Amino acid sequence: MCGIVGYTGSAQAGPILLEGLKKLEYRGYDSAGIAVINNGEITLSKVTGRIDNLYEKTDGGRAAPGRAGIGHTRWATHGMPTDYNAHPHLSNDGRFAIVHNGIIENYALLREELIEKGYHFESETDTEVVVHLIEMYYNGDLKRAVIRTCGRLQGSYALGVACTDEPERLFAARESSPLIIGLGIGENFFASDVTALVSYTRNAIYMEDGEFAEITPDRVTVYDVTGSPVKKEVDRITWDIQAAEKGGYPHFMLKEIMEQPGAVKATLAPRIKDDEIVLDGQDFSAAELLDINKILITACGSAYYAGCAGRFAIEKLFRVPVSVELASELRYSDPIIDEHTLLIVISQSGETADTIAAMKECRSRGAKTLAIVNVVGSTVAKLADRTIYTWAGPEIAVATTKGYTTQLSVLYLFALYAARKTGRIEDGEYEHLLTTLKNLPKRLQESIDLSSRIPKLAKRYAHTRSIFFIGRNTDAAAALEGALKMKEISYIHAESYPAGELKHGTIALIEDHQPVIALCCNDSVMEKTMNNIIEVKARGADVLAVTFRKNDRILSLADEMIFVPKTDTVFAAIVEIIPLQLLAYYTAREKGCDIDKPKNLAKSVTVE
Ligand code: BG6
Repeated sequence: MCGIVGYTGSAQAGPILLEGLKKLEYRGYDSAGIAVINNGEITLSKVTGRIDNLYEKTDGGRAAPGRAGIGHTRWATHGMPTDYNAHPHLSNDGRFAIVHNGIIENYALLREELIEKGYHFESETDTEVVVHLIEMYYNGDLKRAVIRTCGRLQGSYALGVACTDEPERLFAARESSPLIIGLGIGENFFASDVTALVSYTRNAIYMEDGEFAEITPDRVTVYDVTGSPVKKEVDRITWDIQAAEKGGYPHFMLKEIMEQPGAVKATLAPRIKDDEIVLDGQDFSAAELLDINKILITACGSAYYAGCAGRFAIEKLFRVPVSVELASELRYSDPIIDEHTLLIVISQSGETADTIAAMKECRSRGAKTLAIVNVVGSTVAKLADRTIYTWAGPEIAVATTKGYTTQLSVLYLFALYAARKTGRIEDGEYEHLLTTLKNLPKRLQESIDLSSRIPKLAKRYAHTRSIFFIGRNTDAAAALEGALKMKEISYIHAESYPAGELKHGTIALIEDHQPVIALCCNDSVMEKTMNNIIEVKARGADVLAVTFRKNDRILSLADEMIFVPKTDTVFAAIVEIIPLQLLAYYTAREKGCDIDKPKNLAKSVTVE
């Protein structure tokens, strides 16, 4: 996700802003910029690429004189990574500059309104609407203009605002994106996280949603949405930089597991407007969807497993046959493809060599392509006819978690969208499933909240030689990803196996105390999976069942239970994966493994 910083005080702002942005680099970004106020002018410097380019462009900040300014590292969501899309963004009259972390969900309508009112846009970003609204509402009172602007915004933001009329006064505003004020002596700061502050001060005010801060070198005043002052505690930052980068979590992977409800919400919410699904400029016509007679999903690793889980929703709702192929296999398999084939390419990085090669092979045979990617402007995104971005923000841990669940949420979104557009779903069923989809972030949070026993359970697995993950249908798909998570971070051999297939050979491996994790979240095959639990128990297995709360019938069968919140079977895989991610995490932690950087693995394999 993006990072914002701000400074006002007695020192030169430029070098301090650059230093702050450097501390936010770990968050991942593709461009950066600073704006410094001096003698009624704004010096604006923006670059694509690394902060070092900004150091060079501004001579270490010295080429941007002034004692107040704002800075930004951008993780592109709307608009490619370019200089003109980088923040800060300026108002048309050049008096205001803003930086933003978050997503303005209603930016398209606001952009239209502002263009009609004569404002012109320099960028493709959602953020730019904010600075033009501030100019529009400004009548000499910056606080009122900022509050009024934020009243027009839907979505998430941590905002920083600078104005030439008030050279040492900055404003900041928070809604659903972290924002912290740093309190110095004769100087004050704001930043997206404490890593950018601790070199200067450990006294901080943590802003809450709906709050605004007026920041001068000697005072910080926090207001609520009515403009009334709010009394805020000053906290002492005790974290070191390392801990701060992980938001206080011991590992990026745990932080990213906990970010999943927010990441799925950020991915889904902007695409559901007035109970219709919109694919932000990537829409299909009904005719185009009706022309698809086969869907081929291709990816690698967990992205492939997301495809395996999402396939059930697409086939059940859109009623088009779906096959899911490993990209490293597909590229050499002489695939049967024509112009009626829709190829869905899933990739967190958008740079995986096998996935790109498979995509090119299928395109050359006439397939239409839809990419599901987390990195704006990546190779897969550039090659695709259409791209639906996941808005998970940067994923630092090598073993993906929020990348997987946001990919799966987009597959669910597409399945419902295509069914609706082609009239293949009744209104009532559509409304029910749309509500279920909108509530998935809450279900994920509930799943996290129900996982408190997992650290203790993990101790049972830390010293085992192998673990089986079994299930059927959507449960079998979730088992694939659950087994991979266990393998890649705890190095324990883990195998996912379709529960109904065990008896045809593999059950020979089940012996006394063999750990088996049985996924039982699919009502349509629940009885069958329970029979498989009985089968493996009869051979001495130690069974941990993952199932819905109150599914008491399994209590008598399994040795241990993990409950997840109930949700529609078609979307169950995204909920039941949470405890499996946590089980792998705590098992690896019990073993003392290098969780964020597992041996032999890379975050993105850009070679064949
Ligand atoms: C692997 C990663 O290297 O590549 C996995 O460790 C990932 O987490 C897989 O699922 C595919 O990468 P991408 O970027 O194409 O999703």
